[in-house]
Amino acid sequence: MIWDPDPEDLLEERVRELLERMTPEEKIGQLCLVNGAGGHVPDSLRWDIAGGHVGAVLNEVDLGTVNELQRVAVEESRLGIPLLIGRDVIHGFKTVFPIPVGQAATWNPDLIERGARLAALEAAAAGVNWTFAPMIDIGRDPRWGRIAETLGEDPHLASVLAVAMVRGFQEGALSEGHGIAACVKHFAGYGASESGRDYNTTDIPEIELRNVHLPPFRAAVDAGVASLMTSFSDLNGVPATANALLLEQILREEWGFDGFVVSDWDSVPQLAVHGLTADDRESAYEAAIAGLDMEMASGTYREHLATLVAEERISPHRLDAMAANVLRIKLRLGLSDRWHTDPGVFPVPGDPEHLDAARTTAVQSAVLLVNRDGVLPLSTHELESLAVIGPLADEPAEQLGTWVFDGDPQLSVTPLQALRELLGGSVELRYVRGMEMTRSWSTEGFAEAVDAVRGSDATVLFLGEEAILSGEAHCRADIRLPGVQEELIAELHAIGKPLVLVVMAGRPLALESVVDQVDAILYAWHPGSMAGPAIADLLFGEQSPSGKLPVTFPRVTGQIPIYYAHKNTGKPATPENVVHIDEIPRGADHHSAGGSSFHLDAGHTPLFPFGHGLTYTEFEYSDIRTSREVVSVGETLAVDVDVTNAGGREAEEVAQLYVRDPVASVTRPVRELKGFQRIRLAPGETRTLSFELHTDDLAFHGRDMRRRTEPGRFHVWIGGSSQAHLGTEFEISHPSEE
Ligand code: BGC
Repeated sequence: MIWDPDPEDLLEERVRELLERMTPEEKIGQLCLVNGAGGHVPDSLRWDIAGGHVGAVLNEVDLGTVNELQRVAVEESRLGIPLLIGRDVIHGFKTVFPIPVGQAATWNPDLIERGARLAALEAAAAGVNWTFAPMIDIGRDPRWGRIAETLGEDPHLASVLAVAMVRGFQEGALSEGHGIAACVKHFAGYGASESGRDYNTTDIPEIELRNVHLPPFRAAVDAGVASLMTSFSDLNGVPATANALLLEQILREEWGFDGFVVSDWDSVPQLAVHGLTADDRESAYEAAIAGLDMEMASGTYREHLATLVAEERISPHRLDAMAANVLRIKLRLGLSDRWHTDPGVFPVPGDPEHLDAARTTAVQSAVLLVNRDGVLPLSTHELESLAVIGPLADEPAEQLGTWVFDGDPQLSVTPLQALRELLGGSVELRYVRGMEMTRSWSTEGFAEAVDAVRGSDATVLFLGEEAILSGEAHCRADIRLPGVQEELIAELHAIGKPLVLVVMAGRPLALESVVDQVDAILYAWHPGSMAGPAIADLLFGEQSPSGKLPVTFPRVTGQIPIYYAHKNTGKPATPENVVHIDEIPRGADHHSAGGSSFHLDAGHTPLFPFGHGLTYTEFEYSDIRTSREVVSVGETLAVDVDVTNAGGREAEEVAQLYVRDPVASVTRPVRELKGFQRIRLAPGETRTLSFELHTDDLAFHGRDMRRRTEPGRFHVWIGGSSQAHLGTEFEISHPSEE
């Protein structure tokens, strides 16, 4: 068998020819994704592959072993079909980039595409040809540990960045043999797990599913993603792994997807645990008829599909369609020419170009939340001594974040190392860990930290969360800084010297109780291998911060869910009608406090809104204007604005465009992001930005679930965050339905 990438019109013929030659068992084999043994080929796996019972292997990155597995598939199995070799290449491989939510804070699709491309090259060097990424679940609950893996809370931002990642991974996959197949996950609704507890139930009205959770998946499908992974979660009573509305109606019938869908780890037998089925055989049946092509890790397809087909409960036609979906992708990947991997053609770990890209991404992902009196950037000319305090200042592995199976901590440069290098002998550096870990309860190390801070001109504190506190199954019910970190901040604040807080964490933390006790907050997420140089450059003004929040930061955990694109309610809160619990006098009349939608102890605003991020200069927005006052459905409108760098430093800004449809047949969010542009301006420079808005960008799914743009007046704003106040209006003149 010759395996080469065929032109698309021949591809279906090739798939058909193959299916004709395959036994039912061989077809089922293509649907089985099994776990590797980690560095060797057990006899049982060798026999299974040679017998055509396995179509894909995950978690095997020892190159010699991968090459041997592929050799067995190609040379010893009857049809010689190569294997898919899957791995979680989530934010880098050996070189680690910022965690995905940090990458989303760059609002820079080009950088993200490049990061995925470099990760794909490093992974392909280990024989990996398929990544379980990007994760594009909408993340609106920072208690959920997997918010770290998301591209944030917004459907538009996540869609644009999802497409960038898919392109980055897959580019060259078809012809050059260097790209790898992507797999968007988790289809769908996983981010809405109740109370932010992983794997929990989700209840999402279909209209919200379509308007909020599905757009990134649709964008990825349109961009040619090879595969999708189902979610572990129960969606409105039918777990995603057996959900025909998702897998059949929406994905295949409405979107026309022709790649394959894989389950999550063991999520097929878990259908019985959910209570949808009685046993493994029924689980295999429900998943297969709902549209799940490939099973990860567990063996219910292998055990039961043949019987289900023999009993005519699953038609041969359905089995063929499932196998065809997998074969189509294998053919498109051109695996025949690349099943054997020669490491010599790939860059070696530690390649300076890769580290440099990781550094740039880390720089652009850091968000300057607060900068009182311009305390940042620090200056080597003005400081004689600097205290560096905290359990995360010098932790090569923790700065990498979650999902770094292959990340190499040896490549990490920590903030302490980078600051030492940057400062050389010019500024005396005093380092005190202060706490053993971020989650420690001992205050034993405080005295030494206090001494160092007293004896220094300024302090940088490295606090937050270790990598283990976020990621899969690592959720928190209280998202304040863990351990005694708040107490440490309070003690150091009392000294009265400039105090800069750098937070490394896998989620937004609730920082309200510390926000007034520090002079600056730089939110670095888990920045990856090059955390140190990136942070040092930002602290000392070698680079200006340019990250913007891809998620809303609540004041306190109890505000969750809190996101910018909320509905207005019938009683929206305003600064005038919000009352704080401390302001209510004794015996106050019930009507004197309240009357609108807020919390007595947290108000109605977040601590930091979506899109927020400061820098070392000021950007001013002026003269917003539309190319026309009225557009018809199907037409495009230009919205222009002038942006001026009114400060004294060159810097980058992410200009964001938001719209509101104030009257519609279903209530719409108070604002929705529809466009953004990253620009770099010199001091004093003004640039006119032009955003194109097609009326289709304003479409939404209505009561009948169909997508439509409704006529009427729209508001539009452009600015540096979701609270941009410079706005205008325009009108759409005719209704339409797709
Ligand atoms: C996760 C997936 C991941 C898979 C394979 C599961 O537990 O939910 O996101 O791709 O494991 O490692």
